[in-house]
Amino acid sequence: MLSCKHIMTVSDMTTKDITTILDTAESFMEVNERRIKKLPTLRGRTVVNLFLEPSTRTRTSFEIASKRLSADAINFTASSSATVKGESLRDTAKTLSAMACDMVVIRHKYAGAPQMLAECMDAHIVNGGDGMHEHPTQALLDLFTMRRSLGRLEGLRVGIVGDICHSRVAGSLVPALRAVGATPIVIGPPTLMPARPDILGAEVVYALDGVLPTLDVAYMLRVQFERAEAMPIPSNREYAKLYGMNGKRLAAARPEMIVMHPGPMNRGVEISSDVADSPRSVVLDQVNAGVAVRMAVMYLLLGGEDGGVAA
Ligand code: NCD
Repeated sequence: MLSCKHIMTVSDMTTKDITTILDTAESFMEVNERRIKKLPTLRGRTVVNLFLEPSTRTRTSFEIASKRLSADAINFTASSSATVKGESLRDTAKTLSAMACDMVVIRHKYAGAPQMLAECMDAHIVNGGDGMHEHPTQALLDLFTMRRSLGRLEGLRVGIVGDICHSRVAGSLVPALRAVGATPIVIGPPTLMPARPDILGAEVVYALDGVLPTLDVAYMLRVQFERAEAMPIPSNREYAKLYGMNGKRLAAARPEMIVMHPGPMNRGVEISSDVADSPRSVVLDQVNAGVAVRMAVMYLLLGGEDGGVAA
């Protein structure tokens, strides 16, 4: 069981919550390898996936996870919800609440939207990515993938490379790594760093090549052009030259270093195609882990046998 009712941010989860989720996900990995990938655990519970921002893998991953646990999954996207008719998020929340749904997974362009939802409904809320703030289940599946690939988390040096200032993935991954005793190192040009990188709780490095040979993991971020106010880099080509992962850089790294990416990838910008498809890339393992980790989150929040969280 978890100490929290919701999964809002990694920052407010305990290390025990994190390891409980990772350990529970291990058992769901086995279910996902069976021919019949379905458990009756959440039969009769209703999970609403409210995705008000574009998403492929996160939305599908939550949907598959809820279906594999036999919950009733209902999906709303921005264009299929009444928000296009001008309904406020508060009214959407009250409507869903009146329909007695048990869990809402929300992705929203505004930081804090999941919190707002939690304030006006009783359901368990899972943050599926809120603006530039956090994306906690992504960080959990990333930890899960690192632990499976490298056999441990404690002491790992994880370079998070690229658009630190607009990235909710980095926003969750930095505290998640710290919670499990790994060392996050944020790496990127000054134009893609937040105003005060020193308060992130990570080592801050502006050049990739110097630090590359010390890393156990190179975690490549997508440049969030849709969130940047102006062009934050001179060109994609220059960015790839200074911060992109490619065959040459891979050769300069530790032979056991793995390459990660949350997707969607911009091939040729933050990661070259040959690296993305190489055995050193665990991008598809991350996607695979995503389903098991989200099953674990749903199972632990909605409660298999005794109906809920400890708190
Ligand atoms: C990320 C997101 O939406 O924040 N993608 C994801 O959830 N897998 C990263 C991104 O869009 O770059």
